Amino acid sequence: MSEINLPEVELNIYSKNDPVEVTVVENYVVTKESSPNIVRHITFDVSGTELVDRVKVGQSVGVLPPGKDEKGKAHRLRLYSVSSPSSGEKGEKHLISTTVKRTIEELDNKLYLGVASNYLADLKPGDKVRVTGPSGRRFLLPENSQDFNYIFFATGTGIAPFRGMIQELFEKDFSNECALIFGCPYRTDVLYADYFEDMDEKYDHFHYLVSVSREARREDGSKYYVQTKLDDEKKLLSPILAKENTLIYICGMKGMETGIYTKLINQGHPEYLEIRKELPDDLNEIPDKKFKRFIKPGPRIFEEVY
Ligand code: A2P
Repeated sequence: MSEINLPEVELNIYSKNDPVEVTVVENYVVTKESSPNIVRHITFDVSGTELVDRVKVGQSVGVLPPGKDEKGKAHRLRLYSVSSPSSGEKGEKHLISTTVKRTIEELDNKLYLGVASNYLADLKPGDKVRVTGPSGRRFLLPENSQDFNYIFFATGTGIAPFRGMIQELFEKDFSNECALIFGCPYRTDVLYADYFEDMDEKYDHFHYLVSVSREARREDGSKYYVQTKLDDEKKLLSPILAKENTLIYICGMKGMETGIYTKLINQGHPEYLEIRKELPDDLNEIPDKKFKRFIKPGPRIFEEVY
């Protein structure tokens, strides 16, 4: 297998005590149909700052929302994954994008709006935002990215880094296999569908698979999750998994990784993992909290769950 050469990255060029002001240039909804789960694509112009050409896809930027909480403390920093390629949004090195879901929660009959996500979602072109970063040094594409095949697993806004990574791979005439498996609750929640559907149509070696969890059920009554595609699309995915130069990237909801690891083992691919203890016959017997004591991701897995 080719060695995985991760690029050197720069970290925290701007810190929370020394943030930089950037300008919003676009802010649009990325679901095709209207959905109560509002997700927006927001692009910042970082011209004139040290961030130009120094943020890699897979890294995050921090956002400092203005104002104070009810205790009078400044709102804390929130991290958002970069969803533009390292070459910049639309090939412009001074444009960096992110993907933001408005967070809304009800607690004790009261509605709470996430401070940073709703602040960002309300912004208009021309508005200024204080940002920090970049952060993250491992969830990256290798420098020799063209030497590998990829299986990307995303749930919800976990798609953000993969949008940029897939753009980056294909802008360099990528010729290996690449599968993107995306999971969301309803069909109306599919993110960046137009882009990925076009890619799927255009390239025989790009495979776009969507798992919608709360509409139909699988034959055995289980939900359609990203990991169930490993069974349902075995004919397509199994030969890709079997190649020794395939990398797996996982991004999204905490807990999705254990389902993916379990499927990998059940399908005879322990080589992606580091098995640290003798495994029970039925992996579902391992409580989620103890999973990492038994199984950890190996060097071919890149994971960012939250
Ligand atoms: P569900 O909530 O129906 O169980 P979003 O971030 O837009 O809410 O999407 C997250 C998606 O991930 C949903 O479809 C959700 O399904 C699904 N999901 C929840 N738990 C897991 C898990 N353990 N493994 C994989 N997918 C999961």
